[in-house]
Amino acid sequence: MFLKPVTSLDAWGALIYAAKVGHNYLGPLFVLGLLTMLIKWFKNNLFNKVDWEWFKQGGGILPNGKHPQAGFCNGGEKVWYWLLATAGVVVCVTGLIMDFPIFGQLRSDMQLANIIHAVFSLGLIAAAMGHIYIGTAGTEGAFEGMATGYVDETWAKQHHGLWYDEVKDLPENQAENQVGSDRSNA
Ligand code: HEM
Repeated sequence: MFLKPVTSLDAWGALIYAAKVGHNYLGPLFVLGLLTMLIKWFKNNLFNKVDWEWFKQGGGILPNGKHPQAGFCNGGEKVWYWLLATAGVVVCVTGLIMDFPIFGQLRSDMQLANIIHAVFSLGLIAAAMGHIYIGTAGTEGAFEGMATGYVDETWAKQHHGLWYDEVKDLPENQAENQVGSDRSNA
């Protein structure tokens, strides 16, 4: 929509064709990636009483200044997990229905799948914008945690205190000023 008026019709056509074909092939890889993450982090994302407190305190952004407790994942991270486990799976299933028209699905089924796919995927993109902000500029130290797999002890205590208590005495975590356990493997 934005590029069409400022590019040649040929360049615009080539670009959207490449985007469409790229999406057709990358979609199934997204399915594998999503399923791997959902399986890997399932046990860390079951809700418990601690999360209820986390929600009551607005995840720490309310003006009363309290920083709610959290384990490996906090309440907000768990909501994002379950959004991906539901809406994300809908996007995958409808994508596969469109990608592989070899299971007897009708054109009308694929049209319906296209509409559901567009609504859920755009909803996920909107939520992802907030998620990306919180995971980078919005929370000091979060980006370094993702990039290196390590967080420092103060950050661990502040943001995931219950997880910190669980892992702080493990032998591999005795290096000075570091919680040396890779959060992605905990
Ligand atoms: C977050 C992930 C995804 C986003 C944001 C996304 C977004 C979209 C959007 C906006 C469309 C166009 C809908 C319309 O016609 O208005 C589309 C079409 C499509 N998507 Fe996805 N999608 C995602 C994941 C997937 C996956 C996982 C698959 C396959 C497994 C897939 C396969 C397709 C196919 C086959 C089409 C139809 C392309 C065509 O028109 O020929 N998508 N997607």
